[in-house]
Amino acid sequence: MHAEFLAALGAIVGSAQVRTGAEVQAMDPGWHPDNLAAGVVVLPASTAEVAAVVRLCGQHRVPIVPQGGRTGLVGGAISQPGELIVSLARMQAIELLDPVSRIAVVQGGATLEALQEAAALERLEPGIDIPARGSATIAGMVSTNAGGIMAFRNGVMRHRVLGLEAVLADGSVYSDLTQVVKNSAGYDLKHLLIGAEGSLGIVTRVVLKLDPVPDATATALLGLPSVAATLQAIRWALDVGAGHLRAAEALWQGYIRLTAEGLQWREPGMELDQPIYVLLSLGGAEEAVLQEAFEGLFEKVLAHHPDATGIVASSARQERELWRLREDTDLLYRAHPGAPSYDVSVPLARLDGYVEQVQRGLAAIDPSLAPYLFGHLADGNVHIVLNRPGPLPPALSTQIEAVLYGPLRALGGSFSAEHGVGSKRIGAMFDTLDPVKLATMAHIKRLLDPDNLLNPGKVLPAA
Ligand code: LAC
Ligand code: ZN
Repeated sequence: MHAEFLAALGAIVGSAQVRTGAEVQAMDPGWHPDNLAAGVVVLPASTAEVAAVVRLCGQHRVPIVPQGGRTGLVGGAISQPGELIVSLARMQAIELLDPVSRIAVVQGGATLEALQEAAALERLEPGIDIPARGSATIAGMVSTNAGGIMAFRNGVMRHRVLGLEAVLADGSVYSDLTQVVKNSAGYDLKHLLIGAEGSLGIVTRVVLKLDPVPDATATALLGLPSVAATLQAIRWALDVGAGHLRAAEALWQGYIRLTAEGLQWREPGMELDQPIYVLLSLGGAEEAVLQEAFEGLFEKVLAHHPDATGIVASSARQERELWRLREDTDLLYRAHPGAPSYDVSVPLARLDGYVEQVQRGLAAIDPSLAPYLFGHLADGNVHIVLNRPGPLPPALSTQIEAVLYGPLRALGGSFSAEHGVGSKRIGAMFDTLDPVKLATMAHIKRLLDPDNLLNPGKVLPAA
């Protein structure tokens, strides 16, 4: 990269905040080895500095890859030589956390976990939770429209954001730091930036809604004979009068067996021989009452499915152990390095049939293809990870995508529930979405970023 350009960058952020060479090699590339391939990372400390960096890049025609926690799964943060990585790692301030208005104003580089911890001091929570909480940044989550564990109840990131500030491709600052839920003042343009994966602007500041934290929680793990039985159990859990359902995470047998083995988890009476497991969490006033509610729920389940198994966590430690069975997805990738992963959502009424169709379709391609399935069952979001190291040969990948994505449009589902499009799902997006939507997306990109400066080749094709 041109010395004159690097010097000008240094003049904006301070030369120590322009990282190159060995300094970049020492950084954690995150989930994809090519995230740092650009080799130059700039770390601005304020929105004004981000704006100045973007203007400079515009003058020099240097494409920008904005980065948060680098834990995205679809290549949205991959970079290449000639591009500049803009990291928000120095913009982590939680600027306001108001317990009465139940809102937070945070800089884009704050991690979800930092916000969760700060909110907890006021007995509040962001109402959105994902296993990558320790690394995922708020701006990254806004940019991918993250969903996670509580989405069935609280909506996805899009529904948690009240206002935001972003630097646009021309270096102007889009500022809509609205702090109220109700706002029908014209086009709600923040929704263009939410889920745009940095292709329309760099989100620098966010106003989020917070929710009160329940006094107590309880967790149970049930083993059930089918998707239908699991959905019925979730429905009963939603109806529990003593508390409210906070999570319903599914772990199909292959997945729970792998994580249980990796974590050396054993529980007397739980043989992991049921086809599907569901981790349920209730929130309410009293732990004992919630545990009792789970006992009642389990009895109801047993009356219909005598082979069902279940445990109710009796300590915080046991609760954490059960959650690790679900959240330790690294174990999968250790067993199958770079395993191809997919992230679909399917209307609940169609889920059972879809999963069967996918299992049959994959087995028809290759009988040894036994996908790991897990995910956020209460909203129909299933993660599918293949028992194969990646990347797949392109022809096989096309065959597999046809099985997974082919039925989704007719079912009213989505080929990308919560991971975004990035660089890996552009083909799937063009195969799946309405041509009018695709054309409108391209119009909007041209309008807001005519020189294709912001995260080129992500969400939409490069040229
Ligand atoms: C999860 C990520 C993969 O739910 O979305 O673990
Ligand atoms: Zn997920």
